[in-house]
Order: sequence, then structure tokens, then C-alpha cells
Amino acid sequence: MERYSDYDDFAQVYNRHWGGFSIRIIPILEQMALDVCPPGSAILDLCCGTGQLAKELATCGYTVTGVDGSEKMLRHARQNAPNANFYCADARSFSLPTDFAVVLSTYDSLNHLLTLEDLATVFHNVYRHLQSGGVFVFDMNLDAGFRSRWAGSFSIVADSSVVVVDARYDEDERLATMTMTLFTPADEDNTLWQRNDVTLTQRAYSVEELTETLAGAAFSKIEAFDGRGDFAMRDEGRAFFRAIKR
Ligand SMILES: C[S@@+](CC[C@H](N)C(=O)[O-])C[C@H]1O[C@@H](n2cnc3c(N)ncnc32)[C@H](O)[C@@H]1O
Repeated sequence: MERYSDYDDFAQVYNRHWGGFSIRIIPILEQMALDVCPPGSAILDLCCGTGQLAKELATCGYTVTGVDGSEKMLRHARQNAPNANFYCADARSFSLPTDFAVVLSTYDSLNHLLTLEDLATVFHNVYRHLQSGGVFVFDMNLDAGFRSRWAGSFSIVADSSVVVVDARYDEDERLATMTMTLFTPADEDNTLWQRNDVTLTQRAYSVEELTETLAGAAFSKIEAFDGRGDFAMRDEGRAFFRAIKR
């Protein structure tokens, strides 16, 4: 199985402009899992990206491990969260010697799994890495989220990056595509700039599909929450899931 590494050329810009999402949802993660998880507990941040959440969790006294498929995202994660341990591996096939009290996966990372079979493989793998009674929490973009947010273009112009994003959603295929053209300085005085083109793809799953797939991986007490209705988020069509290992 090929390791997922599509974020490699996006890492520097992600770290600067996208890394704040997981920090903003910490109150939700507290409510869903962390409030009953004592400091010192082992937490896995699956698809940890550039490590902003890992940093906060480590600062709170948790023993934090991050796994991500992109080595370049992990380079930022290691700088941002020097007290956490990071492994470059695919969510479908990672294998660690630790059992975790909590596994988190934030910012619709698992929408990047493009088939229910691959998603089921991830859920089985997470289950295997949880302690008995352990909690798995993740968020996903649903169909409504892609319709409202993955539609059209925007750009970011900053001192050390220029980003042009075009997002599309194919409602029939339930496939969302984000095409990005990124410019970043290639030398210290910003006279030479490098261009990278990155395409990211996500698939929409229904709450029923996700709940059934979690149940198929032996999870129990599966609950789905609506980001807007349950947690007063601005985002439409973002769902949060909590599932327990028996
Ligand atoms: C939108 S970013 C979220 C990063 C981080 N969780 C956050 O909240 O900022 C998605 C991350 O998932 C990772 N990812 C996606 N599919 C993966 C897979 N199959 N295995 C490992 N990492 C994966 C990407 O490399 C990327 O870092």
C-alpha cells in the first residue's frame, strides 16, 4: 500500500495558514473525550499534520504521539511540538507498540480515504491501537459541507506565500477536489519564488455509512454530532463522531 503523501508540497503553507483549525476545536475535543482523560494519558493524533494540536495536548501533560503520511508536514510538527513523538506512516497501515486512551483525527483528515473499504481499514487499525474503554473522536465533512464550502476560488497573499485555491464538488460522485497553486520564496531575500501545484481529494460519506463502518470495526456507543447544531460552529456540514472500544 502506498503511503499517503499528497500534502508534502502544501506543508509550509498549511503550517502557516491552515494549522489553527485543530486549536479552535479544542473545547469540542475536551467535551467529547479530553475532560475525562487524566494528564499523562497516551493520546494518538492520527493524521496530525503540522502538529499544532499535538503541541497543545503535550502542554496539557498528555503523552502525545502523532502519525501522518506526509514527511514534510511532520517536519513542521516536530518543530511545533518537540515534546511529542511523530511517525511517518499511513493511517491504514501504521503499527505502534502503544495502546492509547484516546485517538483523535481532526480537520476532515479521514475524508481523504476515498473508499469505504480504506476507511474501514483505518477504523480497524485505530480500534487495535486503543486501550479497552478507549475513545476515538474525529470530524468529517459531510455532503452539505462540501456543497457549501468546497465551491469556488479564493486566494491568500502574504509576505512569504501566495496561494490560489479552486475547490470543486462533484455531487454525483461525492468527490471533492481542491486545486492549489502555491508560491513560496526560494531564497532568503525573497527575490526567487518557487511554484508548486497541489491537488487534494476528499470523499463525502453519510452519517449512516460512517456509523455502520465504525460498528463493523467493533466500536460501540457510536455517536454523531453536528458541528453547527451541537457545538455552535460556523461551519455547515461538519460532523463529529465518538466511538468507544468495548
Ligand atoms: C487537513 S490536514 C489535517 C491535519 C491536522 N489533523 C489538523 O487538524 O491540522 C489532513 C492531514 O491528513 C494526512 N493524511 C490524509 N490521509 C492520510 C493517510 N491515509 N495516512 C496518513 N496521513 C494522512 C495528510 O497528510 C494531512 O497532514
